[in-house]
Amino acid sequence: MNEKEQEDLPLLRVRNLRKFFPIKRGLFSHTVGHVRAVDGVSFDLQKGETLGLVGESGCGKTTAGRTLLKLLPPTGGEVLFQGQPVFELGSEGLRLLRQKMQIIFQDPYSSLNPRMTIAQIVGEALLVHKLVANAKEAKERVCQLLERVGLSAQYVNRYPHEFSGGQRQRIGIARALAMEPEFIVCDEAVSALDVSVQAQIINLLMDLQEEMGLSYLFIAHDLSVVRHISNRIAVMYLGRIVETAEAEDLFAHPSHPYTKALLSAIPIPDPDKRPQRTLLEGDVPTPIHPPSGCHFHPRCPEVMEKCRIDAPPDFDLGKGHCARCWLFEGEAPLAADQWTRMEEV
Ligand SMILES: Nc1ncnc2c1ncn2[C@@H]1O[C@H](COP(=O)(O)OP(=O)(O)O)[C@@H](O)[C@H]1O
Ligand SMILES: [Mg+2]
Repeated sequence: MNEKEQEDLPLLRVRNLRKFFPIKRGLFSHTVGHVRAVDGVSFDLQKGETLGLVGESGCGKTTAGRTLLKLLPPTGGEVLFQGQPVFELGSEGLRLLRQKMQIIFQDPYSSLNPRMTIAQIVGEALLVHKLVANAKEAKERVCQLLERVGLSAQYVNRYPHEFSGGQRQRIGIARALAMEPEFIVCDEAVSALDVSVQAQIINLLMDLQEEMGLSYLFIAHDLSVVRHISNRIAVMYLGRIVETAEAEDLFAHPSHPYTKALLSAIPIPDPDKRPQRTLLEGDVPTPIHPPSGCHFHPRCPEVMEKCRIDAPPDFDLGKGHCARCWLFEGEAPLAADQWTRMEEV
C-alpha cells in the first residue's frame, strides 16, 4: 500500500469480521457445532467519529468489539487500524497497537484490582508502557488524569471500593486515557448507571473526544443511549449489521423492520408523536442454529417468501444509509468490493 492509499483509509476498517465459538461435547471434547456470534460484520470508523453499535443482548456486540481488538482470536475477516492489518501483527506490533486501542467495560469494578490504590492501578500501566520515567512522575500524571475526568487529585491514594459507580467509570476512563489512545471501544460503558450519571459520563466522553480527536465504537443495547453521542449508528441482529445510517437519519427514517421495532420500544412522552408500536414477537433465536435466509424473518412483521430462503445483501439507500432487507431490492446493493455480500460468508 502506498502512502496516498494509506492517507485515504479511515482510522479503522473492519471487513467481514467473523467469530464463531466451538461447542464441545463428550469425553474427548469433540466440536459438535458453533455459536456464530459475529457472522460477517463490516464498517468504517473515521478519526474523531463515534459509531454507535446497538442490538438486543446476545446479538454479538461484545464479541465484535473484543475480536476486532484481537482480545479474542478471530475466525475470519480483516481489520485495518491506521492501515495496519491487526490480525497479522506480531507481538511487538500488537503491543504498540493495544496502547492506541483501548476498551472500557460496563463494570469497571470487576477489572480494578481491589487491593491497589488508584495511583497504583493507573500508575502501573504508565510504567509498564514506559509512558513515564519513574514512580514520582507516574503519580503526578495520575493526578492530572483524575482531574481531567472530573475527580479530585486527592482521591489518588484511595481504593476502588471507596467510589460510586459513576466515579469508578471515570477511573476506568482515566486508565484508558493514560495510554494516550486514538480509539476506544466503550462496551455498555454507561448501561449500569442511573440516567443522570449516564448523561454526565457521555458528556465527559464527548469533551475528551473533541479535545483529543478520539474515535469511539460505542456499544449499547439501548438505542436512546447511543443517540446523543453517535455520529452514525449500526444496528446489529444475530451476528450481522442490518442497518447503518447517520444517527439523526436513523431516528427520522428507520428502514429495516428490526430497527423500526427497536425504535417503537423507546418511550416517547408526547402520545401524538408516538409511532404505532410494533411489538417484537418471539425470542431472539440462538446463533447456534440461526434461521435460514434473513435471520430476522421469524419475527419480522413484513416478512415475504423470499426472506425465508435468501439472505439479503446490504442495499444502499443513499447518504451512507444502508439496510440488509429485501424490502429495498429496487435499490443498488453496495459494491461487492466495498462491502462483503452475505452470500460469500
Ligand atoms: N466465550 C464464549 N463461548 C461461547 N459462546 C459465547 C462466548 N461469548 C459469547 N458467546 C455467545 O455469543 C453470542 C454473542 O454474545 P455477546 O457478544 O456477549 O453479545 P452482546 O454483547 O450483544 O450481548 C451469545 O449467543 C453468547 O452466548
Ligand atoms: Mg455485551
